[in-house]
Amino acid sequence: MMEAGVNEKTPSAGENPSGSEAQLSLIKKVQEYRAKIEEGGGKERIDAQHAKGKQTARERVLQLLDEGSFQEVDAYMTHRHTDFGLDKTRTLGDGLVAGFGKINGRRVCIYAQDFTVLGGSFGEVAGQKVCKVLDLAMQAGVPVIGLNDSGGARIQEGVYSLYAYGEVFYRNTLASGVVPQISVMLGPCAGGAVYSPALTDFIVMTKDISNMFITGPEVIKTVTGEEVDTETLGGASTHATISGVAHLVGETEADSFALVRKLLEYIPSNNTETPRRLPPADEDLRGDPALNTIVPVSSSETYDMHEVIERVMDRGSFFEIHAGYAMNAIVGFARLNGESVGVVANQPSVMAGVIDINAGDKIARFVRFCDAFNIPLITFTDTPGFMPGTVQEHGGIIRHGAKIVYAYSEATVPKLTVITRKGYGGAYIVMGSKHIHADLVYSWPNAEIAVMGAEGAVNILYRKEIKAAEDPAAERARLVEEIREKFSNPYRSAAAGFVTEVILPVETRGRLIAGLELLRDKQSSAPAKKHGNMPL
Ligand code: HXC
Repeated sequence: MMEAGVNEKTPSAGENPSGSEAQLSLIKKVQEYRAKIEEGGGKERIDAQHAKGKQTARERVLQLLDEGSFQEVDAYMTHRHTDFGLDKTRTLGDGLVAGFGKINGRRVCIYAQDFTVLGGSFGEVAGQKVCKVLDLAMQAGVPVIGLNDSGGARIQEGVYSLYAYGEVFYRNTLASGVVPQISVMLGPCAGGAVYSPALTDFIVMTKDISNMFITGPEVIKTVTGEEVDTETLGGASTHATISGVAHLVGETEADSFALVRKLLEYIPSNNTETPRRLPPADEDLRGDPALNTIVPVSSSETYDMHEVIERVMDRGSFFEIHAGYAMNAIVGFARLNGESVGVVANQPSVMAGVIDINAGDKIARFVRFCDAFNIPLITFTDTPGFMPGTVQEHGGIIRHGAKIVYAYSEATVPKLTVITRKGYGGAYIVMGSKHIHADLVYSWPNAEIAVMGAEGAVNILYRKEIKAAEDPAAERARLVEEIREKFSNPYRSAAAGFVTEVILPVETRGRLIAGLELLRDKQSSAPAKKHGNMPL
Protein backbone atom coordinates (compact mmCIF):
# COMPACT_ATOMS: atom_id res chain seq x y z
CA MET A 1 0.00 0.00 0.00
CA MET A 2 1.30 3.50 -0.83
CA GLU A 3 1.80 6.21 1.76
CA ALA A 4 -1.08 8.66 2.02
CA GLY A 5 -0.46 11.84 0.01
CA VAL A 6 -1.72 14.30 2.61
CA ASN A 7 0.91 13.29 5.11
CA GLU A 8 3.88 13.11 2.84
CA LYS A 9 5.15 16.63 3.35
CA THR A 10 3.92 17.14 6.91
CA PRO A 11 6.83 17.60 9.32
CA SER A 12 6.36 15.47 12.41
CA ALA A 13 6.19 17.12 15.81
CA GLY A 14 9.51 15.50 16.64
CA GLU A 15 11.19 17.23 13.68
CA ASN A 16 10.44 20.62 15.15
CA PRO A 17 12.00 20.38 18.62
CA SER A 18 12.49 24.15 18.97
CA GLY A 19 8.72 24.74 19.12
CA SER A 20 6.93 25.37 22.38
CA GLU A 21 4.80 22.71 23.99
CA ALA A 22 1.68 24.46 22.72
CA GLN A 23 3.02 24.65 19.17
CA LEU A 24 3.99 20.98 19.18
CA SER A 25 0.57 20.01 20.38
CA LEU A 26 -1.06 21.94 17.50
CA ILE A 27 1.03 19.97 15.01
CA LYS A 28 0.22 16.75 16.81
CA LYS A 29 -3.49 17.49 16.59
CA VAL A 30 -3.28 17.90 12.80
CA GLN A 31 -1.40 14.63 12.59
CA GLU A 32 -3.98 12.84 14.69
CA TYR A 33 -6.76 14.15 12.48
CA ARG A 34 -4.93 13.04 9.38
CA ALA A 35 -4.41 9.56 10.75
CA LYS A 36 -8.15 9.41 11.47
CA ILE A 37 -9.00 10.62 7.99
CA GLU A 38 -6.91 7.82 6.53
CA GLU A 39 -8.65 5.20 8.66
CA GLY A 40 -11.82 5.53 6.55
CA GLY A 41 -14.35 2.96 7.71
CA GLY A 42 -11.80 1.19 9.93
CA LYS A 43 -9.38 -1.71 9.65
CA GLU A 44 -12.02 -4.43 9.54
CA ARG A 45 -13.81 -2.91 6.58
CA ILE A 46 -10.55 -2.10 4.81
CA ASP A 47 -9.54 -5.77 5.21
CA ALA A 48 -12.94 -6.82 3.83
CA GLN A 49 -12.43 -4.50 0.87
CA HIS A 50 -8.99 -6.00 0.20
CA ALA A 51 -10.41 -9.51 0.55
CA LYS A 52 -12.77 -8.72 -2.34
CA GLY A 53 -9.70 -7.87 -4.45
CA LYS A 54 -10.54 -4.17 -4.23
CA GLN A 55 -8.47 -1.23 -3.04
CA THR A 56 -9.73 1.52 -0.77
CA ALA A 57 -10.72 4.89 -2.20
CA ARG A 58 -7.52 6.50 -0.93
CA GLU A 59 -5.30 3.74 -2.31
CA ARG A 60 -6.99 4.15 -5.68
CA VAL A 61 -6.55 7.91 -5.78
CA LEU A 62 -2.88 7.55 -4.92
CA GLN A 63 -2.37 4.82 -7.50
CA LEU A 64 -3.98 6.82 -10.30
CA LEU A 65 -2.29 10.15 -9.60
CA ASP A 66 1.38 11.01 -10.03
CA GLU A 67 3.24 10.16 -6.84
CA GLY A 68 3.05 12.84 -4.17
CA SER A 69 0.70 15.06 -6.20
CA PHE A 70 -2.58 14.46 -4.35
CA GLN A 71 -4.03 17.44 -2.49
CA GLU A 72 -7.12 16.54 -0.51
CA VAL A 73 -10.10 18.84 -0.02
CA ASP A 74 -12.88 18.70 2.57
CA ALA A 75 -11.40 15.72 4.38
CA TYR A 76 -12.82 16.94 7.68
CA MET A 77 -16.45 17.09 6.61
CA THR A 78 -18.95 14.88 8.43
CA HIS A 79 -22.68 14.44 7.98
CA ARG A 80 -25.19 16.14 10.29
CA HIS A 81 -27.83 13.39 10.40
CA THR A 82 -28.99 11.43 13.43
CA ASP A 83 -31.73 9.10 12.19
CA PHE A 84 -31.32 5.32 12.00
CA GLY A 85 -28.08 5.31 14.00
CA LEU A 86 -26.24 7.74 11.76
CA ASP A 87 -25.22 9.74 14.85
CA LYS A 88 -23.00 6.81 15.76
CA THR A 89 -21.35 6.57 12.39
CA ARG A 90 -19.63 9.86 11.72
CA THR A 91 -16.45 9.39 9.72
CA LEU A 92 -14.10 12.17 8.68
CA GLY A 93 -14.61 12.80 4.97
CA ASP A 94 -17.94 10.93 5.13
CA GLY A 95 -17.09 8.17 2.67
CA LEU A 96 -15.72 10.31 -0.13
CA VAL A 97 -12.09 11.14 -0.85
CA ALA A 98 -11.87 14.31 -2.96
CA GLY A 99 -9.22 16.65 -4.22
CA PHE A 100 -6.85 17.35 -7.07
CA GLY A 101 -3.48 16.23 -8.31
CA LYS A 102 -1.62 15.39 -11.48
CA ILE A 103 -1.59 12.62 -14.07
CA ASN A 104 1.50 12.50 -16.27
CA GLY A 105 2.24 16.03 -15.05
CA ARG A 106 -1.20 17.37 -16.03
CA ARG A 107 -3.60 18.81 -13.46
CA VAL A 108 -6.81 16.90 -12.75
CA CYS A 109 -9.58 16.95 -10.16
CA ILE A 110 -10.63 13.67 -8.62
CA TYR A 111 -13.05 12.04 -6.20
CA ALA A 112 -13.44 8.47 -5.00
CA GLN A 113 -16.29 6.82 -3.12
CA ASP A 114 -15.09 4.93 -0.06
CA PHE A 115 -16.96 1.63 0.21
CA THR A 116 -15.55 1.09 3.73
CA VAL A 117 -17.80 3.89 5.02
CA LEU A 118 -21.45 2.79 4.94
CA GLY A 119 -20.87 0.99 1.67
CA GLY A 120 -19.74 4.19 -0.06
CA SER A 121 -23.37 5.27 0.13
CA PHE A 122 -23.94 8.77 -1.23
CA GLY A 123 -25.30 11.36 1.15
CA GLU A 124 -25.49 15.11 1.51
CA VAL A 125 -21.79 15.59 2.29
CA ALA A 126 -20.61 13.37 -0.58
CA GLY A 127 -22.81 15.42 -2.90
CA GLN A 128 -21.41 18.71 -1.61
CA LYS A 129 -17.84 17.46 -1.98
CA VAL A 130 -18.32 16.17 -5.52
CA CYS A 131 -20.01 19.45 -6.50
CA LYS A 132 -17.09 21.43 -5.09
CA VAL A 133 -14.61 19.31 -7.03
CA LEU A 134 -16.63 19.75 -10.22
CA ASP A 135 -16.78 23.52 -9.64
CA LEU A 136 -13.03 23.60 -9.02
CA ALA A 137 -12.40 21.60 -12.19
CA MET A 138 -14.51 23.97 -14.27
CA GLN A 139 -12.82 27.04 -12.80
CA ALA A 140 -9.35 25.56 -13.26
CA GLY A 141 -10.17 24.08 -16.67
CA VAL A 142 -9.00 20.58 -15.84
CA PRO A 143 -10.49 17.08 -16.36
CA VAL A 144 -12.48 15.42 -13.56
CA ILE A 145 -12.17 11.75 -12.73
CA GLY A 146 -14.71 9.98 -10.52
CA LEU A 147 -13.89 6.61 -8.97
CA ASN A 148 -17.20 4.89 -8.23
CA ASP A 149 -17.80 2.15 -5.66
CA SER A 150 -21.05 2.72 -3.85
CA GLY A 151 -24.29 1.25 -2.57
CA GLY A 152 -26.10 4.25 -4.04
CA ALA A 153 -28.21 6.85 -2.24
CA ARG A 154 -27.59 6.72 1.53
CA ILE A 155 -30.89 5.32 2.65
CA GLN A 156 -30.76 6.83 6.17
CA GLU A 157 -30.46 10.38 4.81
CA GLY A 158 -33.63 10.09 2.76
CA VAL A 159 -34.29 13.04 0.50
CA TYR A 160 -30.97 14.64 1.42
CA SER A 161 -29.16 11.99 -0.55
CA LEU A 162 -31.52 12.47 -3.49
CA TYR A 163 -30.80 16.21 -3.34
CA ALA A 164 -27.08 15.36 -3.30
CA TYR A 165 -27.34 13.29 -6.45
CA GLY A 166 -29.48 15.88 -8.19
CA GLU A 167 -26.93 18.62 -7.54
CA VAL A 168 -24.16 16.41 -8.92
CA PHE A 169 -26.19 15.60 -12.06
CA TYR A 170 -26.74 19.33 -12.56
CA ARG A 171 -23.00 20.05 -12.24
CA ASN A 172 -22.13 17.13 -14.57
CA THR A 173 -24.39 18.71 -17.16
CA LEU A 174 -22.90 22.17 -16.72
CA ALA A 175 -19.39 20.74 -16.98
CA SER A 176 -20.24 18.75 -20.11
CA GLY A 177 -18.32 20.22 -23.03
CA VAL A 178 -16.28 22.45 -20.69
CA VAL A 179 -13.90 19.91 -19.13
CA PRO A 180 -13.58 16.19 -19.91
CA GLN A 181 -15.30 14.00 -17.33
CA ILE A 182 -14.25 10.39 -16.84
CA SER A 183 -15.95 7.79 -14.62
CA VAL A 184 -14.15 4.69 -13.46
CA MET A 185 -16.37 1.93 -12.10
CA LEU A 186 -14.71 -0.08 -9.35
CA GLY A 187 -17.61 -1.65 -7.49
CA PRO A 188 -21.39 -1.68 -7.41
CA CYS A 189 -23.25 1.26 -8.87
CA ALA A 190 -26.99 1.05 -8.49
CA GLY A 191 -30.08 3.20 -8.84
CA GLY A 192 -29.60 6.91 -9.36
CA ALA A 193 -25.88 6.41 -8.87
CA VAL A 194 -25.51 5.36 -12.48
CA TYR A 195 -26.72 8.71 -13.79
CA SER A 196 -23.72 10.75 -12.80
CA PRO A 197 -21.38 8.40 -14.71
CA ALA A 198 -23.89 8.32 -17.58
CA LEU A 199 -23.63 12.10 -17.86
CA THR A 200 -19.84 12.00 -18.11
CA ASP A 201 -17.86 11.60 -21.32
CA PHE A 202 -16.28 8.20 -20.74
CA ILE A 203 -17.10 5.23 -18.52
CA VAL A 204 -14.33 2.77 -17.76
CA MET A 205 -15.64 -0.42 -16.15
CA THR A 206 -13.45 -2.91 -14.32
CA LYS A 207 -13.92 -6.64 -14.95
CA ASP A 208 -15.40 -8.79 -12.19
CA ILE A 209 -15.67 -6.04 -9.54
CA SER A 210 -17.92 -3.43 -11.14
CA ASN A 211 -21.54 -3.41 -12.17
CA MET A 212 -24.14 -0.82 -13.11
CA PHE A 213 -27.91 -1.04 -13.13
CA ILE A 214 -30.99 1.05 -12.43
CA THR A 215 -32.66 -1.72 -10.46
CA GLY A 216 -30.90 -4.77 -9.05
CA PRO A 217 -31.79 -8.47 -9.47
CA GLU A 218 -34.03 -8.54 -6.36
CA VAL A 219 -36.24 -5.69 -7.51
CA ILE A 220 -36.42 -7.11 -11.04
CA LYS A 221 -37.56 -10.46 -9.67
CA THR A 222 -40.26 -8.81 -7.58
CA VAL A 223 -41.54 -6.55 -10.33
CA THR A 224 -41.28 -8.68 -13.46
CA GLY A 225 -40.48 -12.18 -12.23
CA GLU A 226 -37.31 -12.24 -14.31
CA GLU A 227 -34.31 -13.91 -12.70
CA VAL A 228 -30.90 -12.57 -13.60
CA ASP A 229 -27.51 -12.40 -11.91
CA THR A 230 -25.66 -9.16 -11.29
CA GLU A 231 -22.94 -9.80 -13.85
CA THR A 232 -25.35 -10.64 -16.67
CA LEU A 233 -27.55 -7.70 -15.74
CA GLY A 234 -24.88 -5.02 -15.53
CA GLY A 235 -21.32 -6.36 -15.53
CA ALA A 236 -18.46 -4.91 -17.54
CA SER A 237 -18.92 -7.24 -20.47
CA THR A 238 -22.67 -6.54 -20.69
CA HIS A 239 -22.14 -2.79 -20.81
CA ALA A 240 -19.14 -2.98 -23.14
CA THR A 241 -20.85 -5.16 -25.73
CA ILE A 242 -24.65 -5.04 -25.39
CA SER A 243 -25.76 -1.73 -23.88
CA GLY A 244 -22.82 0.45 -24.93
CA VAL A 245 -22.84 2.17 -21.54
CA ALA A 246 -19.14 1.34 -20.98
CA HIS A 247 -16.55 2.82 -23.33
CA LEU A 248 -13.52 0.95 -22.03
CA VAL A 249 -12.95 -2.11 -19.83
CA GLY A 250 -10.00 -2.67 -17.53
CA GLU A 251 -9.00 -6.21 -16.56
CA THR A 252 -8.00 -4.98 -13.09
CA GLU A 253 -8.10 -1.72 -11.13
CA ALA A 254 -4.54 -0.96 -12.27
CA ASP A 255 -5.55 -1.64 -15.86
CA SER A 256 -8.53 0.72 -15.61
CA PHE A 257 -6.24 3.45 -14.29
CA ALA A 258 -3.78 2.82 -17.14
CA LEU A 259 -6.69 3.31 -19.58
CA VAL A 260 -7.57 6.63 -17.95
CA ARG A 261 -3.97 7.81 -18.19
CA LYS A 262 -3.83 6.79 -21.84
CA LEU A 263 -7.15 8.46 -22.66
CA LEU A 264 -5.99 11.72 -21.13
CA GLU A 265 -2.98 11.74 -23.46
CA TYR A 266 -5.26 12.28 -26.47
CA ILE A 267 -7.57 14.93 -25.06
CA PRO A 268 -7.09 18.52 -23.92
CA SER A 269 -7.77 19.74 -20.39
CA ASN A 270 -10.71 21.91 -21.39
CA ASN A 271 -12.70 23.22 -24.34
CA THR A 272 -10.43 26.23 -24.94
CA GLU A 273 -7.35 24.09 -25.49
CA THR A 274 -6.23 21.73 -28.21
CA PRO A 275 -4.77 18.34 -27.32
CA ARG A 276 -1.08 18.23 -26.57
CA ARG A 277 0.87 17.59 -29.78
CA LEU A 278 3.67 15.07 -29.54
CA PRO A 279 6.82 15.38 -31.61
CA PRO A 280 6.23 13.24 -34.71
CA ALA A 281 7.50 9.77 -33.86
CA ASP A 282 7.02 8.54 -37.38
CA GLU A 283 8.29 9.75 -40.76
CA ASP A 284 5.55 12.23 -41.56
CA LEU A 285 4.89 11.43 -45.17
CA ARG A 286 5.50 7.69 -44.91
CA GLY A 287 3.21 5.93 -47.32
CA ASP A 288 2.53 2.28 -46.64
CA PRO A 289 2.39 0.45 -50.02
CA ALA A 290 0.34 -2.35 -48.43
CA LEU A 291 -2.58 0.09 -48.39
CA ASN A 292 -2.80 -0.17 -52.18
CA THR A 293 -3.90 -3.79 -51.98
CA ILE A 294 -5.95 -3.94 -48.77
CA VAL A 295 -9.32 -3.43 -50.43
CA PRO A 296 -10.35 -6.48 -52.50
CA VAL A 297 -11.34 -5.85 -56.10
CA SER A 298 -14.64 -7.67 -55.67
CA SER A 299 -16.94 -5.41 -53.69
CA SER A 300 -18.55 -8.42 -52.00
CA GLU A 301 -15.24 -9.44 -50.42
CA THR A 302 -14.36 -7.98 -47.09
CA TYR A 303 -11.33 -6.51 -45.30
CA ASP A 304 -10.53 -5.19 -41.84
CA MET A 305 -10.72 -1.40 -41.54
CA HIS A 306 -8.47 -1.60 -38.46
CA GLU A 307 -5.64 -2.46 -40.81
CA VAL A 308 -6.29 0.67 -42.86
CA ILE A 309 -6.36 2.83 -39.72
CA GLU A 310 -3.17 1.27 -38.32
CA ARG A 311 -1.29 1.78 -41.59
CA VAL A 312 -2.39 5.39 -42.06
CA MET A 313 -2.01 6.70 -38.49
CA ASP A 314 1.25 7.03 -36.53
CA ARG A 315 2.40 3.51 -35.77
CA GLY A 316 0.74 1.96 -32.71
CA SER A 317 -1.13 5.16 -31.86
CA PHE A 318 -4.72 4.00 -32.43
CA PHE A 319 -6.65 3.83 -29.15
CA GLU A 320 -10.06 2.33 -29.77
CA ILE A 321 -13.12 3.41 -27.79
CA HIS A 322 -16.27 1.29 -27.57
CA ALA A 323 -14.30 -1.54 -29.23
CA GLY A 324 -16.77 -4.30 -28.33
CA TYR A 325 -19.97 -2.38 -29.03
CA ALA A 326 -21.56 -1.84 -32.47
CA MET A 327 -18.50 -3.34 -34.07
CA ASN A 328 -19.81 -2.50 -37.54
CA ALA A 329 -18.48 0.97 -36.73
CA ILE A 330 -15.08 1.94 -35.33
CA VAL A 331 -14.27 5.01 -33.24
CA GLY A 332 -11.13 5.96 -31.37
CA PHE A 333 -8.26 8.35 -30.95
CA ALA A 334 -4.98 8.24 -32.84
CA ARG A 335 -2.07 10.44 -33.74
CA LEU A 336 -1.26 11.73 -37.18
CA ASN A 337 2.23 13.18 -37.36
CA GLY A 338 2.04 13.60 -33.57
CA GLU A 339 -1.30 15.41 -33.62
CA SER A 340 -4.27 13.92 -31.77
CA VAL A 341 -7.25 13.07 -34.01
CA GLY A 342 -10.58 11.33 -33.62
CA VAL A 343 -11.03 8.43 -36.03
CA VAL A 344 -14.48 7.31 -37.19
CA ALA A 345 -14.93 4.44 -39.62
CA ASN A 346 -17.27 1.84 -40.95
CA GLN A 347 -16.07 -1.73 -40.49
CA PRO A 348 -16.71 -3.74 -43.68
CA SER A 349 -15.77 -6.99 -41.95
CA VAL A 350 -18.73 -6.73 -39.52
CA MET A 351 -22.20 -6.73 -41.12
CA ALA A 352 -20.51 -5.29 -44.24
CA GLY A 353 -20.13 -1.95 -42.44
CA VAL A 354 -23.85 -1.24 -42.47
CA ILE A 355 -25.00 1.54 -40.12
CA ASP A 356 -27.55 0.42 -37.53
CA ILE A 357 -29.07 2.05 -34.45
CA ASN A 358 -26.14 1.27 -32.16
CA ALA A 359 -23.56 2.41 -34.71
CA GLY A 360 -25.52 5.67 -35.04
CA ASP A 361 -25.32 6.34 -31.31
CA LYS A 362 -21.68 5.29 -31.10
CA ILE A 363 -20.51 7.49 -33.95
CA ALA A 364 -22.59 10.54 -33.06
CA ARG A 365 -21.47 10.60 -29.44
CA PHE A 366 -17.82 10.27 -30.36
CA VAL A 367 -18.02 12.99 -33.04
CA ARG A 368 -19.62 15.36 -30.52
CA PHE A 369 -16.92 14.70 -27.94
CA CYS A 370 -14.18 15.42 -30.48
CA ASP A 371 -15.88 18.59 -31.63
CA ALA A 372 -16.44 19.83 -28.06
CA PHE A 373 -12.75 19.38 -27.28
CA ASN A 374 -11.13 20.59 -30.51
CA ILE A 375 -10.00 17.21 -31.79
CA PRO A 376 -9.98 16.99 -35.64
CA LEU A 377 -12.03 14.21 -37.20
CA ILE A 378 -10.72 11.69 -39.71
CA THR A 379 -13.43 9.51 -41.27
CA PHE A 380 -12.97 6.32 -43.28
CA THR A 381 -16.10 5.47 -45.24
CA ASP A 382 -17.07 2.04 -46.52
CA THR A 383 -20.75 1.43 -45.94
CA PRO A 384 -23.49 -0.13 -48.04
CA GLY A 385 -26.16 1.93 -46.25
CA PHE A 386 -28.43 1.91 -43.25
CA MET A 387 -29.60 -1.43 -41.86
CA PRO A 388 -33.01 -2.38 -43.30
CA GLY A 389 -35.79 -4.26 -41.49
CA THR A 390 -38.62 -3.87 -39.01
CA VAL A 391 -36.42 -4.34 -35.94
CA GLN A 392 -34.33 -1.35 -36.93
CA GLU A 393 -37.25 0.75 -38.19
CA HIS A 394 -39.31 0.10 -35.08
CA GLY A 395 -36.28 0.79 -32.93
CA GLY A 396 -35.99 4.21 -34.52
CA ILE A 397 -33.12 3.93 -37.00
CA ILE A 398 -34.42 7.16 -38.53
CA ARG A 399 -33.86 9.02 -35.27
CA HIS A 400 -30.58 7.29 -34.43
CA GLY A 401 -29.13 7.63 -37.91
CA ALA A 402 -30.05 11.33 -37.88
CA LYS A 403 -27.75 11.77 -34.89
CA ILE A 404 -24.73 11.10 -37.07
CA VAL A 405 -25.63 13.73 -39.65
CA TYR A 406 -26.45 16.20 -36.88
CA ALA A 407 -23.16 15.60 -35.07
CA TYR A 408 -21.02 15.93 -38.21
CA SER A 409 -22.93 18.96 -39.50
CA GLU A 410 -22.61 20.74 -36.19
CA ALA A 411 -18.91 19.92 -35.80
CA THR A 412 -16.59 22.83 -36.55
CA VAL A 413 -13.27 21.01 -36.04
CA PRO A 414 -11.27 20.07 -39.16
CA LYS A 415 -13.12 17.21 -40.88
CA LEU A 416 -11.18 15.04 -43.33
CA THR A 417 -12.76 12.01 -44.99
CA VAL A 418 -11.39 9.08 -46.97
CA ILE A 419 -13.83 6.95 -48.97
CA THR A 420 -12.13 3.57 -49.18
CA ARG A 421 -14.89 1.72 -51.05
CA LYS A 422 -18.66 1.87 -50.70
CA GLY A 423 -20.42 5.13 -50.10
CA TYR A 424 -24.07 4.45 -50.76
CA GLY A 425 -27.11 6.60 -50.23
CA GLY A 426 -27.81 8.35 -46.97
CA ALA A 427 -25.06 6.43 -45.21
CA TYR A 428 -22.55 8.03 -47.59
CA ILE A 429 -23.92 11.49 -46.83
CA VAL A 430 -23.79 11.12 -43.06
CA MET A 431 -20.25 9.72 -42.91
CA GLY A 432 -18.51 13.07 -43.14
CA SER A 433 -19.29 13.75 -46.77
CA LYS A 434 -18.58 17.04 -48.52
CA HIS A 435 -22.33 17.69 -48.47
CA ILE A 436 -22.36 18.11 -44.70
CA HIS A 437 -19.28 20.25 -45.00
CA ALA A 438 -16.27 18.05 -44.53
CA ASP A 439 -13.25 20.16 -45.39
CA LEU A 440 -11.43 17.64 -47.59
CA VAL A 441 -12.77 14.37 -48.98
CA TYR A 442 -10.37 11.91 -50.59
CA SER A 443 -11.44 8.84 -52.46
CA TRP A 444 -9.57 5.68 -53.25
CA PRO A 445 -9.74 4.58 -56.92
CA ASN A 446 -12.12 1.66 -56.32
CA ALA A 447 -14.72 3.76 -54.47
CA GLU A 448 -18.37 3.24 -55.34
CA ILE A 449 -20.29 6.42 -54.62
CA ALA A 450 -23.92 6.12 -55.66
CA VAL A 451 -27.51 6.14 -54.49
CA MET A 452 -27.37 2.38 -54.10
CA GLY A 453 -25.45 -0.70 -55.29
CA ALA A 454 -25.63 -1.58 -59.00
CA GLU A 455 -27.64 -4.78 -58.38
CA GLY A 456 -30.30 -2.95 -56.39
CA ALA A 457 -30.47 -0.13 -58.93
CA VAL A 458 -30.98 -2.57 -61.86
CA ASN A 459 -33.79 -4.34 -59.99
CA ILE A 460 -35.63 -1.08 -59.57
CA LEU A 461 -34.92 0.58 -62.92
CA TYR A 462 -35.03 -2.34 -65.38
CA ARG A 463 -37.35 -4.98 -63.94
CA LYS A 464 -39.60 -5.01 -67.01
CA GLU A 465 -36.71 -4.97 -69.53
CA ILE A 466 -34.97 -7.89 -67.79
CA LYS A 467 -38.21 -9.93 -67.76
CA ALA A 468 -38.75 -9.30 -71.47
CA ALA A 469 -35.17 -10.09 -72.50
CA GLU A 470 -34.30 -13.27 -74.38
CA ASP A 471 -31.72 -14.19 -71.76
CA PRO A 472 -32.81 -12.36 -68.58
CA ALA A 473 -29.72 -13.37 -66.56
CA ALA A 474 -27.34 -12.11 -69.25
CA GLU A 475 -29.31 -8.90 -69.68
CA ARG A 476 -29.30 -8.36 -65.95
CA ALA A 477 -25.52 -8.87 -65.76
CA ARG A 478 -25.00 -6.46 -68.67
CA LEU A 479 -27.12 -3.78 -67.03
CA VAL A 480 -25.39 -4.21 -63.66
CA GLU A 481 -22.04 -3.77 -65.38
CA GLU A 482 -23.28 -0.70 -67.26
CA ILE A 483 -24.56 0.96 -64.09
CA ARG A 484 -21.40 0.05 -62.20
CA GLU A 485 -19.29 1.53 -64.97
CA LYS A 486 -21.35 4.71 -65.03
CA PHE A 487 -22.05 5.35 -61.36
CA SER A 488 -20.00 3.12 -59.08
CA ASN A 489 -16.73 4.98 -59.31
CA PRO A 490 -15.30 8.08 -57.69
CA TYR A 491 -14.72 10.06 -60.88
CA ARG A 492 -18.30 11.33 -61.29
CA SER A 493 -18.15 12.65 -57.71
CA ALA A 494 -14.72 14.16 -58.33
CA ALA A 495 -16.03 15.81 -61.51
CA ALA A 496 -18.84 17.32 -59.49
CA GLY A 497 -16.40 18.60 -56.86
CA PHE A 498 -17.83 16.30 -54.18
CA VAL A 499 -14.53 14.46 -53.89
CA THR A 500 -11.46 16.65 -53.40
CA GLU A 501 -9.19 14.21 -55.21
CA VAL A 502 -9.00 10.58 -56.18
CA ILE A 503 -5.80 9.36 -54.54
CA LEU A 504 -3.79 6.18 -54.37
CA PRO A 505 -4.28 4.52 -50.99
CA VAL A 506 -0.53 4.78 -50.35
CA GLU A 507 -0.84 8.58 -50.52
CA THR A 508 -3.51 8.79 -47.82
CA ARG A 509 -1.27 9.54 -44.86
CA GLY A 510 0.54 12.37 -46.62
CA ARG A 511 -2.72 13.95 -47.81
CA LEU A 512 -4.27 13.82 -44.36
CA ILE A 513 -1.20 15.29 -42.68
CA ALA A 514 -1.06 18.13 -45.18
CA GLY A 515 -4.80 18.76 -44.77
CA LEU A 516 -4.55 18.79 -40.98
CA GLU A 517 -1.66 21.21 -41.11
CA LEU A 518 -3.62 23.55 -43.34
CA LEU A 519 -6.70 23.42 -41.14
CA ARG A 520 -4.99 23.60 -37.75
CA ASP A 521 -6.46 27.04 -36.99
CA LYS A 522 -9.69 26.51 -38.88
CA GLN A 523 -12.21 29.29 -38.42
CA SER A 524 -15.89 28.57 -38.69
CA SER A 525 -19.05 30.16 -37.49
CA ALA A 526 -22.51 28.85 -36.77
CA PRO A 527 -25.77 30.78 -36.51
CA ALA A 528 -26.38 32.22 -33.04
CA LYS A 529 -28.74 30.06 -30.99
CA LYS A 530 -29.25 28.88 -27.44
CA HIS A 531 -28.66 25.31 -28.51
CA GLY A 532 -29.87 23.05 -31.26
CA ASN A 533 -32.40 20.26 -30.84
CA MET A 534 -30.42 17.17 -31.64
CA PRO A 535 -32.50 14.03 -32.39
CA LEU A 536 -32.07 11.94 -29.23
C1 HXC B 1 -26.75 3.08 3.42
C2 HXC B 1 -25.65 1.19 2.76
C3 HXC B 1 -26.18 1.32 1.46
C4 HXC B 1 -27.04 2.43 1.21
C5 HXC B 1 -24.91 -0.41 1.50
N1 HXC B 1 -24.88 0.11 2.73
N2 HXC B 1 -25.71 0.31 0.69
N3 HXC B 1 -25.94 2.07 3.72
N4 HXC B 1 -27.29 3.27 2.21
N5 HXC B 1 -27.56 2.63 0.01
C6 HXC B 1 -24.13 -0.38 3.87
C7 HXC B 1 -24.61 -1.73 4.34
O1 HXC B 1 -25.69 -1.58 5.24
C8 HXC B 1 -23.36 -2.27 5.01
O2 HXC B 1 -23.24 -1.68 6.29
C9 HXC B 1 -22.25 -1.70 4.17
O3 HXC B 1 -22.79 -0.60 3.47
C10 HXC B 1 -21.71 -2.69 3.17
O4 HXC B 1 -22.81 -3.24 2.46
P1 HXC B 1 -23.00 -4.81 2.24
O5 HXC B 1 -24.39 -5.00 1.78
O6 HXC B 1 -22.56 -5.55 3.44
O7 HXC B 1 -21.96 -5.06 1.08
P2 HXC B 1 -22.05 -6.08 -0.14
O8 HXC B 1 -22.54 -7.40 0.34
O9 HXC B 1 -20.75 -6.02 -0.81
O10 HXC B 1 -23.18 -5.48 -1.08
C11 HXC B 1 -23.03 -4.22 -1.66
C12 HXC B 1 -24.34 -3.77 -2.32
C13 HXC B 1 -25.49 -3.83 -1.30
C14 HXC B 1 -24.63 -4.67 -3.54
C15 HXC B 1 -24.10 -2.35 -2.84
O11 HXC B 1 -25.09 -3.17 -0.10
C16 HXC B 1 -26.73 -3.17 -1.80
O12 HXC B 1 -27.49 -3.74 -2.54
N6 HXC B 1 -26.98 -1.92 -1.34
C17 HXC B 1 -28.16 -1.21 -1.72
C18 HXC B 1 -28.13 -0.78 -3.17
C19 HXC B 1 -29.28 0.08 -3.49
O13 HXC B 1 -30.37 -0.40 -3.78
N7 HXC B 1 -29.06 1.40 -3.31
C20 HXC B 1 -30.10 2.39 -3.44
C21 HXC B 1 -30.34 2.62 -4.90
S1 HXC B 1 -31.60 3.76 -5.18
P3 HXC B 1 -22.64 -2.49 7.53
O14 HXC B 1 -22.71 -1.51 8.65
O15 HXC B 1 -23.51 -3.66 7.71
O16 HXC B 1 -21.25 -2.85 7.11
C22 HXC B 1 -30.80 5.14 -5.48
C23 HXC B 1 -31.70 6.25 -5.73
C24 HXC B 1 -30.93 7.46 -6.10
O17 HXC B 1 -29.62 5.21 -5.49
C25 HXC B 1 -31.73 8.29 -6.99
C26 HXC B 1 -30.98 9.54 -7.32
C27 HXC B 1 -31.68 10.32 -8.36
